[in-house]
Amino acid sequence: MQEIEDKIHNLSKLLHQYNYEYYVLSNPTISDYEFDVLLKELQDLEKQYPQLAHEDSPTKRVGGSITKKFETVVHSEPFLSLGNSYSKEDLIEFDARIRKNTEQTFSYVCELKFDGVAIGLKYKNGKLNMAVTRGDGLQGDVVTENAKTIASIPLKLSGNEFPEEFEIRGEVFMPLKSFAGLNNEKRKELEDLGYDEEQISDKLFKNPRNAASGSLKMQESAEVAKRKLDCFMYFVSGVDNEVNSHFENLQMAKKWGFKVSEHIKICHTIDEIMQYIDFWEKERETLPFEIDGIVIKVNEYNMQRLLGATAKSPRWAIAYKYKAQRVSTVLNTITYQVGRTGAITPVANLKPVFLAGTTVKRASLYNADYITQMDIREGDTVFVEKGGEIIPKVVAVATEQRTLFSEPTVYIQNCPECGTELMRKEGEAIHYCSNELGCPPQIKGKIEHFIGRKAMDINSLGEKTIEALYDAGLVKNIADLYDLKYEDVFGKLEGFKETSSQNIIEGIELSKKIPFERVLFAIGIRYVGQTVAKKLALQFRNLEALKLATREQLLNTNEIGEIIADSIIDYFSNGAYLQQLERLEKAGLQFTLDETAYALKSESLLGKSFVVSGVFNVFSRDEMKKRIEENGGKVLSGVSAATSFLIAGDKMGPEKRKKAEKLNVPIISEEEFITMIGQ
Ligand code: IVH
Repeated sequence: MQEIEDKIHNLSKLLHQYNYEYYVLSNPTISDYEFDVLLKELQDLEKQYPQLAHEDSPTKRVGGSITKKFETVVHSEPFLSLGNSYSKEDLIEFDARIRKNTEQTFSYVCELKFDGVAIGLKYKNGKLNMAVTRGDGLQGDVVTENAKTIASIPLKLSGNEFPEEFEIRGEVFMPLKSFAGLNNEKRKELEDLGYDEEQISDKLFKNPRNAASGSLKMQESAEVAKRKLDCFMYFVSGVDNEVNSHFENLQMAKKWGFKVSEHIKICHTIDEIMQYIDFWEKERETLPFEIDGIVIKVNEYNMQRLLGATAKSPRWAIAYKYKAQRVSTVLNTITYQVGRTGAITPVANLKPVFLAGTTVKRASLYNADYITQMDIREGDTVFVEKGGEIIPKVVAVATEQRTLFSEPTVYIQNCPECGTELMRKEGEAIHYCSNELGCPPQIKGKIEHFIGRKAMDINSLGEKTIEALYDAGLVKNIADLYDLKYEDVFGKLEGFKETSSQNIIEGIELSKKIPFERVLFAIGIRYVGQTVAKKLALQFRNLEALKLATREQLLNTNEIGEIIADSIIDYFSNGAYLQQLERLEKAGLQFTLDETAYALKSESLLGKSFVVSGVFNVFSRDEMKKRIEENGGKVLSGVSAATSFLIAGDKMGPEKRKKAEKLNVPIISEEEFITMIGQ
């Protein structure tokens, strides 16, 4: 046993060290693969001997705990924020005010103003004890488990010079790379669901700051771990050590293992501060994270004490905020893109211009209203801005620079791809091409979705092959894929050799085994994503039953609301789709649920239906729903006369309770539910 204890101890120590080198020092000494092997070894040992696992084990970085609701605590010291300034005059005034207060020589510390969310970390005896968000400045939420997944936050401090108990504050942020990855993945998922550009941009994180704050408040720490957050520390509080200044204290913090920015500078004059500001205004583009300004702090603690603070912010510090980056360029042409759902997006094709680290050639013009309201025209000189958002936007037009020949933009009336007259639904800003079965980008989009990894997973086909098959007139819809023969591909399609042609046919053949719920997702009913497809498959068990389902029956399925129900009905009332389905069935695709894979655990809840509301202690909401279904029960989204029970958790919606009481629907607790299923 001692041997195992030692092994766990040594592995933990090693992994902490490698982790520190990688995330804090940005100087890895082993490969990712080697790291993963060691981590896996430790994970396995901890699983086998849970009693020996350290509380601050490096395995905590991958998360696993679930926070049902974040506890609120009062900060031991108010979480102050900073006064803002947007002009250099404000800074000159700030400096003058401080100098008026003292004869003493002192210095300033200039720092980057990281654009994320503030966090306070409390350490006891060198171990991370609690992580709290800023909240309203007086009290914040406890997010310890989520913070533990952030690799640059030390779970255990180095050396032994740190105070027994102290708090350090800093900024949790999402590096640009993590942010781009997260949004790209989310975009793919939403596109797969048939969302249009407007809906997608609504649902994506607008900027890394929103992404960081959203991530930090997620209930499942394993999900937070995937978000790849980072954290710079910028304020050590409650420390009564020998150190007299902010700068020295940050250097100490660095020694204890915290990530402290290397771009901190001590300045003595306002000129030096201005230089720092100007330098970073340009250089910020090269940083792998976003900053929205510079923070200037009086360095010496005795001066800080003398200057004091207002209720909101210290008088010894100020933030200088950068303005959104903006450049002017010429808008050459306006073109129109057709999305997979037929949504039209107008695009400004610009004379290439350098802005915030990238060359911008195009900007979205959103919709017809945007163009009309701003009176944007081809040939205009326009101002393009990147204000936190990733996609640049046209924010203003230099109308005074227009020539006499300039003419207002006339929005297209027909689809640029297939010529169909565009429609615009009432109250919606977006134009659509309704020719979903005949418009090339829409057809290709549907086929691409169908073969996708989470759908039919035909990985021998890709975007390019689909394009080639479509252009050759071989595949014009998803059912055509199953008529494809080796001879159609080999020798007919450019670039396809024997093996690759064979692979295509085999890949298609293999897809016939893909289970029903994935087929249901793959056929591309608008708004039917993976989860909904699974719900439908479980509820209706086969395609025939789903085809015949009434709107009422669909609405009675958990998580299916009116928009999805109508979209399903629309789909099954379209003759062309019915014909495709018939061909797919003949080809041998799975149109029935594999009952053995979904056998019930018990029938104790058969015939009963439940509405789940609020937050629970033992199960997450999803687990609760799973338990209901596994035992033969049905989950409904709204309370109605058909509901057998309402399971009430904390913070349950008052409307649901009222309705249940009115309809005499019994309200039960989580414990009562657990007794009911006998677990
Ligand atoms: S110092 C008393 N330093 O900006 C100390 N704040 O509006 C107050 N921030 O809430 C904070 N980078 O979230 C400080 N280098 C930095 C910072 C920084 C970003 C954030 C912080 C704070 C907000 C102030």
